[in-house]
Amino acid sequence: MRTSLPFAFAIVATFAMSFVTSRAIAGDPSQTSGKQLFLRCINCHGANGQGMKAGTLQVPSIAGLEAWYVESQIMKFRTDKRGAHADDAKGLMMRAMARALANDAEVKAVSAYIAALAPKVEKPDTSADIKRGQQLYTMVCMACHGANSQGNPDPNIRAPSQVALESWYIQEQLVKFRTGVRGSLKDVEGLRMVPMVRDALPLMAKSLGATVEEADRDILAYINTLSGKP
Ligand code: HEC
Ligand code: HEC
Repeated sequence: MRTSLPFAFAIVATFAMSFVTSRAIAGDPSQTSGKQLFLRCINCHGANGQGMKAGTLQVPSIAGLEAWYVESQIMKFRTDKRGAHADDAKGLMMRAMARALANDAEVKAVSAYIAALAPKVEKPDTSADIKRGQQLYTMVCMACHGANSQGNPDPNIRAPSQVALESWYIQEQLVKFRTGVRGSLKDVEGLRMVPMVRDALPLMAKSLGATVEEADRDILAYINTLSGKP
């Protein structure tokens, strides 16, 4: 389902106004702590960063994502490497929020705060074929995301852990990578993902007698069994 653009902008406008007040209370933005900065995020991501469903809009849980990854994503939203595609209504919404942070120090501070929040825990989908999910994950995802989905910050890889992410959100992102809404030419890391989910995964799924939809479902369920620990 796609969030309409006018709706997205209406929401951005509402929250942009709340910045005016939080700025005034916070004083010098360069002195604002991660916790204070996070107050600007809770209307959408929830007080503990566990995500939120606001009407037709679903906002992802970000609690417990690694600090380096949160930082990299906020920087991408700030520099049009992510969330700049006309069909990416949710990305555009987040882009506006990322741009309202004053400087790199604020990005760092709020990222560290998010990383320290308790991640959301999901049970694996019991309707999925977890064994097939494991085969697919091992063949297509593990090299970069790690055997336990612990992630890999190596500059040549920079793939995040996926365990703190909700399944619905991973699914949406897989579709964005597949359809070119995420992973533009400016986005070095996003570009690493595109051929994996657009080309490699459908091929592997076919070899195991699964549709792409079934492959996604099975991988998501398998990720929910992983610890995220190295
Ligand atoms: C107006 C609602 C809104 C506000 C306020 C908001 N976000 Fe977001 N954020 C979103 C949406 C929607 C997404 C999903 C974007 C997508 O689908 O690609 C998102 C995605 C993100 C992501 C990417 C997560 C990932 O793993 O891909 C990060 C990091 C993030 N937000 C951090 C923040 C921070 C930090 C703040 C506060 C400074 C904030 N957000 C405020 C709506 C919001
Ligand atoms: C060649 C390395 C590589 C492989 C293989 C790979 N990924 Fe990724 N993946 C990445 C990188 C790098 C990123 C970070 C993209 C960015 O910075 O925006 C990423 C990001 C993601 C994200 C976005 C997370 C978020 O918080 O928004 C998801 C979901 C994901 N990968 C799932 C998968 C799945 C599922 C597979 C297997 C089907 C897979 N990846 C295979 C490198 C890879």
